[in-house]
Amino acid sequence: MGQGTLDGLMVYPGKGRFKIVWKNLSPELITFKGKFNHPVHSWFRLTPSYSPDLVNILLNELGKSSSQDVVLDPFSGTGTTLLECKKRGIPSIGVEINPVLYRVTRASSSWDRLDPGLLKNIVRAFLDFAEEMFQRFESVPLSKFETHGIMLPRLSNLFRWWAPDVLRDLLLIREAFKEYAMELPEEYQDFLWIGMASILLDFANIRRNHPTISFVDNPFNLGQSNGGKNWIKKFSMSVLAKKYEVMIKDVEKVKTEVPNPAPSMAMMGDSKHLGDVIPGEYHGRITRVITSPPYPNRYSYVMETRPYLYFFEVFTSPSQASELDMETIGGTWGKATFSLKGKRIRPVNSIVDDALSDIPEKIYSLSDIMANYVVKYFNDMYLHLAGMSRILKEGDSRVAYVIGNSYIKGVEVPSDLLLARILEGLGFTVEKIWHLRKRGGKRGLYEAVVFARY
Ligand SMILES: C[S@@+](CC[C@H](N)C(=O)[O-])C[C@H]1O[C@@H](n2cnc3c(N)ncnc32)[C@H](O)[C@@H]1O
Repeated sequence: MGQGTLDGLMVYPGKGRFKIVWKNLSPELITFKGKFNHPVHSWFRLTPSYSPDLVNILLNELGKSSSQDVVLDPFSGTGTTLLECKKRGIPSIGVEINPVLYRVTRASSSWDRLDPGLLKNIVRAFLDFAEEMFQRFESVPLSKFETHGIMLPRLSNLFRWWAPDVLRDLLLIREAFKEYAMELPEEYQDFLWIGMASILLDFANIRRNHPTISFVDNPFNLGQSNGGKNWIKKFSMSVLAKKYEVMIKDVEKVKTEVPNPAPSMAMMGDSKHLGDVIPGEYHGRITRVITSPPYPNRYSYVMETRPYLYFFEVFTSPSQASELDMETIGGTWGKATFSLKGKRIRPVNSIVDDALSDIPEKIYSLSDIMANYVVKYFNDMYLHLAGMSRILKEGDSRVAYVIGNSYIKGVEVPSDLLLARILEGLGFTVEKIWHLRKRGGKRGLYEAVVFARY
């Protein structure tokens, strides 16, 4: 794919000509690191999230449309886009396929519906209820939980994740939540839930490397080998209480700072079929899209969120996780990879074929599974973009896609350029691409934003 350099700008000779501009922004302005200092955004950690500042930079760059804007994030993850739109008074819709991340989006974008006074009472009563639960089960060992109707997470290597006594406490809190929160309005349930979810991995025997999680094997010995740091942390209710305290302060802060928040709607669904997911009344009303889809780099969101998916009983059998990964764009776990074996996946049409050019061929000679993976990824992105074009307000819409390139079997997959070509094939006008930063310390990996008009 040829591209020339002109006065520091790369000019991409596609259908239309657009510039590729290097935009020098600090990692705090782009990545999840920028979330730590922002109230509410810091409630749940997902390393491939983007920063609230980036959403604001993109909202400014896209400007206002001639009508009332509705912003869509079809890959909402933790809900960063929805939160920032809400603060700026712009109505927004988020779509997310992963049930845990969908609930994170829903919980973090509902602060405007919470009353801090009521919240304090609810949290206090919930923590008291959890203490009662500890007493009720004081003499019941973890091995007998299932006979008392408390299901252990069907997560493989369960005790590699949590030491049995830690898991025992966490499960009792989960059960207390199930009993106590049932009658509460959804936004209050979600508040309690996200507090629990946010501490779940703080007590696991893991290291949260960027961007993946790894186990700390033999954690008892790590005391010496890891500079005296003991990785087995004993769960204590005071940690959860402290977490809720900080979260309530966050709600108070944003409510004071943002007197007129805009409505937002979180939806669980598959962005390959947006027309079916988003209610008809919004079709033709969406004018801005700010999003970051998965990258074609074999990172599995289902795999990374599996402790939550199983702990919260969203999934109760191992096959459910790999079924979800099949539907997730870029998914690569179990069945998702198996389904790529023993056949050749073709581009869905000439738009995807032209965009991919000779990339699949280069990878086929090295790995047919990986070549299929790349073709499937762009077929799925085509489905997503084609469906989205049908619900945008034509003539008045602008989109910004944050995406990273990848190397598959040593062959570069320049996702930003391929996405730009597919957008053009669908009738969008690509305006420009920003190259934001080099990723992961490895040569040749970067993150980009593709801007287009429709
Ligand atoms: C890069 S992350 C988005 C992170 C988000 N911008 C944030 O700040 O938290 C991509 C998200 O797309 C979701 N996803 C993958 N395939 C999807 C699909 N077919 N429909 C909807 N969401 C999908 C993943 O579960 C993941 O949460």
